[in-house]
Amino acid sequence: MSEISGNVLIRAAGIDDLAAIFHLGEKVFTSQEVSNLYRTWDEYEVVGLFNSEPEYMLVAEIDGRMAGFAMGTTINKARSAWSYGHLVWLAVEPEFSRQGVGDLLFEEFREIMQRQGVRLLMVDTQADNTPAIEFFQKKGFENPTDHLYMTLYLQKED
Ligand SMILES: CC(C)(COP(=O)(O)OP(=O)(O)OC[C@H]1O[C@@H](n2cnc3c(N)ncnc32)[C@H](O)[C@@H]1OP(=O)(O)O)[C@@H](O)C(=O)NCCC(=O)NCCS
Repeated sequence: MSEISGNVLIRAAGIDDLAAIFHLGEKVFTSQEVSNLYRTWDEYEVVGLFNSEPEYMLVAEIDGRMAGFAMGTTINKARSAWSYGHLVWLAVEPEFSRQGVGDLLFEEFREIMQRQGVRLLMVDTQADNTPAIEFFQKKGFENPTDHLYMTLYLQKED
C-alpha cells in the first residue's frame, strides 16, 4: 500500500459533501458499475441514504478533496434475530485508486456495522467488475452467488 493512506481522512459525510459524492459516483458508476434494477445512481439515492442512514455514509478526504465514499444500510428481517448490513455503494476517485483508500473506507464501514450488531455484511456488483470482486475477496467476502435479471417487454414498439 502506498504512503498516501497516511494522508487520508475518513469521516462521516456531511450535507456539504453530497454534491461531490454525487459527481464522483457519476464518474465511476457509469464505466464499471451501472445502476441495477433496484438501485439507480442519482441525486435521490445520495440524498435518500443521507437522510435515512447518515451514520453509514463515509467519505475519504485527501488534502480537502473528495477521494472516495462508502454508503450503506442495515436490514432487519422479520423472524430473524440477525441484523444484516449492505454496503450499497463504494467508490474511489480513479486518480487515487489502488492506494488503499477503498481499504480505509471499508474498514471504517465494517467497524461501524460491527458496533451496530450486524452479523453479516453483503455487497453486490456486476459479474464483470473485476476490481470490485478482487477488492471484496481480499476483504474476506465469500460465497458469490449468481443472480440473473430477466426482462419482458409489455408494449410493442411502433
Ligand atoms: C473497487 C474500488 C472501490 C477499490 O478501491 P481502491 O481504493 O482502488 O482499492 P484499494 O487500493 O484499497 O485496494 C485493495 C485491494 O483490492 C484489490 N483491487 C483493488 N483494485 C483492483 C483492481 N483494479 N484490479 C484488481 N484488484 C484490485 C487488490 O487486491 C488491492 O490490494 P493490492 O493493491 O495490495 O493488490 C475502486 O476500484 C472503485 O471505486 N471502483 C469503481 C466503483 C465500484 O465498482 N465499486 C464497488 C461496487 S459498489
